[in-house]
Amino acid sequence: MRIYITKDYNEMSRKAANIISAQIILKPNCVLGLATGSTPAGIYAQLVEWFEKGDLDFSEVITVNLDEYKGLGAESEQSYVSYMRKNLFDRVNLRSENVHLPDGRISDSEEACRTYNKLLDEIGPQDLQLLGLGRNGHIGFNEPGNFFEKDVHCVELSQSTVEANMRFFEAGKSVPSHAYTMGIRSILRAKKILVVASGENKAEAVKKVFFGQVTPEVPGSILQLHNDVTLVADEGAFSLCKS
Ligand code: GLP
Repeated sequence: MRIYITKDYNEMSRKAANIISAQIILKPNCVLGLATGSTPAGIYAQLVEWFEKGDLDFSEVITVNLDEYKGLGAESEQSYVSYMRKNLFDRVNLRSENVHLPDGRISDSEEACRTYNKLLDEIGPQDLQLLGLGRNGHIGFNEPGNFFEKDVHCVELSQSTVEANMRFFEAGKSVPSHAYTMGIRSILRAKKILVVASGENKAEAVKKVFFGQVTPEVPGSILQLHNDVTLVADEGAFSLCKS
């Protein structure tokens, strides 16, 4: 595992964006696995800036996102498809047929998961998968549990995730109780994994995920078994890992 510790969020974003842009330059038709949340927003802003300067070309890039809230689609500002459009898809030259997320509007969970699993199989492994970490060590929406879920599945969000994600929802609008997410096998088949973490509220998660026991109680801990993981964390997020 490679670890980069940065002084703050901006430096973390630039470093991670550098790694992603290197991937795009080396393989213009790469498959990028993308993540949402507040942590990657600075990375996307940096990639957009480099695109606008003419340094990056997304015309052949294919993207697959980790997850989506069940019940939300593009009409909802809080959906991950809206987040991705606002932060990246509508701001660079990605082709609309090349961007993919689970379809939150499909109410039949089995059908939604089967459809996304099939699509992931057809597209093939991600060349690079970007991941944030939930405060409880979740990746995508793989919540702590008794076993690792392999493929795309529907999860009931834990109370701590619902509370953490409430900040993205207006008062009176509740966080959906369920989400569709890539499973652990869908994530681990990526050739390279890039994890980003910022701030002291992620310090416990970073410590447990990268230096604790590998257990489904801390879903991200399975990343210790992948052979090409890079962590870019700022000093706050890495603060509990220093000896
Ligand atoms: C959500 C997403 C995760 C993300 C996590 C952390 O639960 N499903 O993919 O990593 O939030 O988000 P943030 O970066 O906002 O702390």
